[in-house]
Parts: sequence; C-alpha cells; structure tokens
Amino acid sequence: MLHIRGGDVVTAERTMRADVLCGDDGRILQVGPDLETPAGCEVVEAGGLLVMPGGIDPHTHMEMPFMGTIATDDFFTGTAAGLAGGTTSIIDFVIPGSGRGLLDSWKEWREKATKAASDYGFHVAITEWNDQVHRDMGTLVEECGVNSFKHFMAYKNALMVEDDTLLRSMKRASELGAICTVHAENGDAVAYLQQDLLAQGRTGPEAHPVSRPPEVEGEAAQRAITLAGLLGVPVYIVHVSTEQAAKAIADARMRGQEVYGEVLPQHLVFDESVYETSDWLKAARYVMSPPFRPRHHQSSLWGGLMSGQLHTTATDHCCFCANQKEAGLKDFTRIPNGTPGIEDRMSVLWHYGVKKGRLSPENFVALTSTNTARIFNVYPRKGVIVPGADADIVLWDPDAERTISAATHHQNVDYNIFEGMTLTGLAQTTISNGKIVWQDGDLRAVKGAGRYLSRSALKRAPRKPL
Ligand code: URP
Ligand code: ZN
Ligand code: ZN
Ligand code: ZN
Repeated sequence: MLHIRGGDVVTAERTMRADVLCGDDGRILQVGPDLETPAGCEVVEAGGLLVMPGGIDPHTHMEMPFMGTIATDDFFTGTAAGLAGGTTSIIDFVIPGSGRGLLDSWKEWREKATKAASDYGFHVAITEWNDQVHRDMGTLVEECGVNSFKHFMAYKNALMVEDDTLLRSMKRASELGAICTVHAENGDAVAYLQQDLLAQGRTGPEAHPVSRPPEVEGEAAQRAITLAGLLGVPVYIVHVSTEQAAKAIADARMRGQEVYGEVLPQHLVFDESVYETSDWLKAARYVMSPPFRPRHHQSSLWGGLMSGQLHTTATDHCCFCANQKEAGLKDFTRIPNGTPGIEDRMSVLWHYGVKKGRLSPENFVALTSTNTARIFNVYPRKGVIVPGADADIVLWDPDAERTISAATHHQNVDYNIFEGMTLTGLAQTTISNGKIVWQDGDLRAVKGAGRYLSRSALKRAPRKPL
C-alpha cells in the first residue's frame, strides 16, 4: 500500500489538499484530507507537490515499421521514458501490413507490447475496405477491447485511404460504438507536390514543409469533418498543426458536430525555421508530418486548447536515429517521418502552457489525461483521482527546472528535438498501478508490468450538423 501525504490533488475540475491511499491491487482506495496511514503502508511525502492523474498519450508509434525501417523506441523503452515524464498510459497504433488481416495484426501488436512498462491500448488502422475488414472491425470492438480506428488521408501508395473507405469505416465504427480518428493531409496533393519539388532538384529536408503546406491539412480536416457530418458520426483529428484545421474543428463544433482535435507539444513550440539550416541531419530530425509551420499557426493551437475547441495533447512519438533518417540523404521524401517526445510532453505543456499563464493546472490535467480518457472511454478508470480508479499518479513539482538533453533522456533515440530547453515543471514521482516507477531521477520501470487497456464501445447518439 502507498499513502501519498500532504499534496494538492488536481483533477480536471478542481484542486484540493488531500491524501491518496493506493491499495495493493493497484487501485486508489481513498482520497481525502489527513488520512490515517494503515500499518505497514509506505508513505510518500507530497508536500508542495501537485498530485495528478498520470498522463495518457493517445498517439505513439513504438517499434513501428514505417518507410522501410522500424522506429527505435520499443514498447519497453518508450513506455519507460513516458513514466520518467509522468505519462502512465499510451494508446499506440496497430498498422496492418499489406495482405495482413486486422485481427492478425492486432495479435502481433499485442505480442510486441507485452514488454511495456506502463498500460497500453491500441487504435487499429484501416488501410483498405472489404467484407473481411467490416467483420474484423466488429470482432475488434466486441472481443478485443478496441474502440477507435485510424485512417491516414496521406502517405499515398502506402497507408492512405480514399474517401470511400473512410466513409464506410466511419459508418461501421459508429454502428459498433467506436470512434474514427484521422491523419488529415491530402495525400494526392502531397504526392504531387513532392514529385514537383524533386523534379526541380529540391531534394533536401527544407522541401518537406513545402510539399505539405497548411492548406493541404486544412482541406483534409474539412473533408473528414464533412464526411463525418454527412453520417452524423464523431471524428477525432490527430496532430492538428494549422489554423485552418483548428478553425474547421471549431466551426464544426459550433454547428453541433462531435469533433475532437489533438495537438502535439512540438507544434506548439517549433516553427518552420527548424528546416532552415545547412546542417542536413539537424533539419532531417524535424521531418515529421504534418511539418512545423509558420509561427502564427501556434496561436490557433493555443487558442483551441485554451477555449476547449481542441481537446488532447499527444506526442506522435516515433523515433528514428541518424542512420535511419539518412535513408533520405538524396531525396527528402525518403526521410522516415517522425519525432520523439513522450518523455517531455507534460513538461513542455506545463512550461509553455501553465507557467506562461495560458492554462490552469486543471486545464493541464484535462489536456494531458482526462479528456483522452473520456474520448476513448477509459474514464474513470484512468484520467482522474477517485476511489476505484487505477493508481496511475504523477507527483508534479510545478517549480523544479530541468534542461532537456539526449544525453540524459530515457528515450531510445540519438537526439531530442527539445535539446537545450530549460523547462519549469517536472514529474518528481510517477506511480503506475500503485507502484513507484520513477522518483527523483531514478527510473524503476519494469519490463512487462504494463497491462493491456481494454476499451469498451461507447454508443453515441447520431448527430447531424445543425
Ligand atoms: O511523421 C509522423 N507523424 N510519423 C508517424 C506517422 C504519422 O503520420 O502519425
Ligand atoms: Zn500522422
Ligand atoms: Zn495562416
Ligand atoms: Zn502518428
């Protein structure tokens, strides 16, 4: 048992001085002021600290096979790094290989993830449409604990789906009580622009953002929202990076549509200038999709988070080392797309969000944990500190400083995109399923300690736009 004593418990609703008692079954037993310490119970002093629900990262790609290589953080190293940063659950993506069925792929990902140090669930990507996909979606929701599906509107000739598949999948998901998520970029436009740039001899990483301008994201986000609106079903847009997409989401919500938007801390703090360097590797390390944008887009992302029109923060954690990025030395379209971030999401959001006066601590909890738990239907098992919930807790030091560096991070990748940033606010202690797994810089992540997060269906009433 664990007695967390004297901290300020923060939920999405309020902050109150309270102790938290965690049971041996890994759940929260009691929350309240000045609790008695049961005999034999370990005490964690939390005076001066904020006691918050562990972070949930709804968008990671551990050991993902992508663009001819495999992301270097696996389910153990990646979730362990997450614990060091206060993140106690992830939702990763099952990506069916060509010719592989959804169920076999889900089983393959379950097997890979048995080494995870924190709890994990899966969205399953739909990359084609046929009767088997229709049936397998049913099995995944009804028997496998999957309640969300992913659709790539980009990555033509690889993961991209056409609108027809997207519509059919949205319809099927809603029958089942699952939610569709989309990577919104117009894949045809990206492929066209990439070929055009290469033909002009523009082969370096600085061409990457030119091949995926903001309009390409705005159009796809609007299209996904329109299709969802035709069917009256919800849609969740991953890694929103532009004012166009943020506005499309806000406008749809004002029409009564159930649309959610996710933001990555990278997009909140970096702009397109990261590509303006003669150091090839430096620029290649920032090659991810959507790319970093002209600075004014950041205001729309912050505005969305502050106003409640954007809902979650994720990392899209997808690590590629220098030797992997170098596959694109002569052709930027071959640079594996992805950036790391799981260890630093919460600190970046605290520093630039709470410390800079944009977000309250309660907003912070909503954006790092509670909203994700609600949207993907694991609330109140996750996302809140109440009796009965999983004892996934972070003791947050709101004033401690840390300088980020690949030399000291726990992610299995040879760089950190936030290198050199000094941030205020960090996870002093992380508790996963009632056990201390990170304390004062000591990582005690246990391989295989994470459990599969089975997520049940959530039937939503159909809602056509007003
Ligand atoms: O560049 C990225 N984001 N790589 C991972 C795959 C995806 O699009 O989310
Ligand atoms: Zn994506
Ligand atoms: Zn603009
Ligand atoms: Zn992703």
